[in-house]
Amino acid sequence: MKVLKAKDYQELSRKAANVIAAQVIMKPNCVLGLATGSSPIGTYKQLIERYEMGDLDFSGVSTINLDEYKGLTRDNDQSYYYFMYNNLFKHVNIDLARTNIPDGTEPDSDKECARYNKVIADMGGIDLQLLGLGHNGHIGFNEPADDFATLTHCVDLQESTIEANKRFFASIDDVPRQAYTMGIQTIMQARKVLMVVSGADKADILDKVINGPVTPQVPASILQMHPDVTIVADEAALAKCNL
Ligand code: F6R
Repeated sequence: MKVLKAKDYQELSRKAANVIAAQVIMKPNCVLGLATGSSPIGTYKQLIERYEMGDLDFSGVSTINLDEYKGLTRDNDQSYYYFMYNNLFKHVNIDLARTNIPDGTEPDSDKECARYNKVIADMGGIDLQLLGLGHNGHIGFNEPADDFATLTHCVDLQESTIEANKRFFASIDDVPRQAYTMGIQTIMQARKVLMVVSGADKADILDKVINGPVTPQVPASILQMHPDVTIVADEAALAKCNL
C-alpha cells in the first residue's frame, strides 16, 4: 500500500485529484469507479476546477459507482445519484449515458445485482476505484461480516452506518435500512485503488486497515492484498498509524 500524507483536507483532495487526473489523461476512455460521502467531495471539486481550466476532458470517461440506497429515487436529495450529479457530473463534460449507479428503485434485488454485475463486466472492469472508509472499516456498503462479499449484493446497513448517515436525513427513521453495493471481489479486481481518508475520527480504523490483520471484520483490510493501492490521508487520520 502506498500512503500519501496530506496536512489537511484541502491538500488531501488535491493529491487525490492528481491521481485521478493522471488516470484520465493517460487513458481518456478509462472506467472510473466512484464513491459518495463527505470524503471525496473536495476531490470532485478539484477535478471540476481542472476541467474548467481546460486541463481535463471527461468526454470519453465511463463511471461506475459503488453503491446506492435501496428505495430512493434519483431525484431524492439523499440518493447517491443526486449526490454524483450535483457534486461532479453536472459540472463536467461527462456523457451521462456512460455513468452508472445501482438503481435504488428496483425492488427485485437479484435482478438489480445481476444487471449491475453485467454492466461492470461489459465495461471491461474498473481502471481506478475511488473509495472512502467507513468508521467500521466498510468500503462501499460492505459492512463487517464473517466473509468477504464477492459481487454486487443488497445489504442490511449496520446501526453504526445508519447512525453515521443520519446527519443527511430529516430524522434517523428516514435513513434507508438497505442498500445495493458493489462487492469486495469487484473492488479488488479494479486495476488501481485510491482511498481518501480524513479526520481524527478515522484514525483508529485507518490503523487497523493498514497495520491490522486482514479480516472481513474490517472489510477495507483486504486492500493490503491488492497490488496497486494508494491511500491519501490527512495527518489527523494518520495519527495512529506509526508510519
Ligand atoms: C459511499 C461509500 C461509503 C463511504 C464511507 C465513508 O459511496 O462507499 O463506503 O465512503 O461511508 O463516508 P464519509 O466519506 O462520509 O466518511
